[in-house]
Amino acid sequence: MRIPPIVVNFKAYSEAVGDNAVRLAKIAAEVAEEVGVKIGICPAHTDLYRVVKEVGDGDVVVFAQAVDAAEPGSRTGHVTPEMVAAAGADGTLLNHSERRMRLDDLKDVCRACMNEGLLTIVCASDSMAARAAGALQPHAVAVEPPELIGTGTPVSKADPEVVERSVEAVKEVSEDTAVLCGAGITDGSDVRAAIELGSDGVLVASGVVLADDPKEALLDLASGLE
Ligand code: G3P
Repeated sequence: MRIPPIVVNFKAYSEAVGDNAVRLAKIAAEVAEEVGVKIGICPAHTDLYRVVKEVGDGDVVVFAQAVDAAEPGSRTGHVTPEMVAAAGADGTLLNHSERRMRLDDLKDVCRACMNEGLLTIVCASDSMAARAAGALQPHAVAVEPPELIGTGTPVSKADPEVVERSVEAVKEVSEDTAVLCGAGITDGSDVRAAIELGSDGVLVASGVVLADDPKEALLDLASGLE
């Protein structure tokens, strides 16, 4: 399965938890079907199973927001790759800037995710980190400068160089790894700019989750792929 060109991280926003997670997931499914493009969503762990049941078999690709570097066994309160796979998720984000991991743990967890058949999107804050992430051969690297996250100022316009440099860096170490960019992405022109810079798509949160009309917001984002 390929990485979708639009991935929406629900984060811990109340607007995207519980019944709201299901509502947003169904909106993503509608838009994906209407525009003929797969859309990724990243609900909270507690909503994964429910969201997969509702939309899991269609054009929506369901990711966890993170997994722990913990092996199955006698430990408590961790979320392992095996658990996320058992909940029916297709993959997971890893190393988001709001959920950083040590490089050693990231290596182990990437391997464990691959063993579970999970897609992996490893986040990186700049092109150097993107290269290190790419060296782990994940399915995708998502470059997100932390200072632009949640600002509405799109990385693809405010810092095009970091996107271009990251695409180059990742492709040098892992040709088959897709590159997403994220932070401040809100509309179709931001997506178009991202694609023109060589990325394969976007990772977005507030622009969809907090939008007055998330369906309109998603349709607008998807228009940037045309
Ligand atoms: O994971 C996506 C993210 O960190 C970007 O957030 O709100 O700037 O789209 P946002």
